[in-house]
Amino acid sequence: MTTPRVDLYTPIHKALRRLLSTLADDVAGADRASADHAETIHARVTRAVDFLDEHAHHEDRHLEPRLIAADPDLAEALAATHRALHPRHVALRVRAAAFARAGDATRAALGAALRDDVLAVVEAQFLHMRQEEVEGNAALWRAFDDDALIATRAALQADIPLPRYLEWVAIMLPAWSTDECGAMLRAVRGAAPPAVADAIFAVARDVLGPTWAELSPHLAAA
Ligand SMILES: [Fe+2]
Repeated sequence: MTTPRVDLYTPIHKALRRLLSTLADDVAGADRASADHAETIHARVTRAVDFLDEHAHHEDRHLEPRLIAADPDLAEALAATHRALHPRHVALRVRAAAFARAGDATRAALGAALRDDVLAVVEAQFLHMRQEEVEGNAALWRAFDDDALIATRAALQADIPLPRYLEWVAIMLPAWSTDECGAMLRAVRGAAPPAVADAIFAVARDVLGPTWAELSPHLAAA
């Protein structure tokens, strides 16, 4: 059996897919939303788009230079998708804000339009992430060894302030398998400063529910 390669895309994409799937559910009934619920939907759209924009920035800053070295044409194709998606994210923010401000006469129509735009972006993001996981990983794996990819991931993570990193942890862990959560938490306990590890473990305890109960006995000695 071959050892799996270091995958810079799939773990974070699992979190984003879960976030976007939930958002698609959130906007499903937007055309019937009350004023209070419209504001909640606005907040959820904004939160999801914040994660998407930040994620694209991380990829542009840390993965794109690696991809340019590995496969310049693919690097340009993926970067072009980021450039194309960004204005659609801006438009989602504007539409969600307008929806939240809408009066009773226009809320249903604006909600339907917001739902359609959110679903279109979710579909585009799913296709894009899949291309990165299949073609991006293949190019990176051909060109770099795992040590280089681990260094790339470490540089990316070092760019994220701890409070924001904890927000990423909060969306990543519930999207991962028990084994993946355990591996991440053991690595954190083994390598991160104790205060950082404690903060990440506190988030894990909050967001994992039954998975935390299953994991925690095995992490006590980590
Ligand atoms: Fe991307």
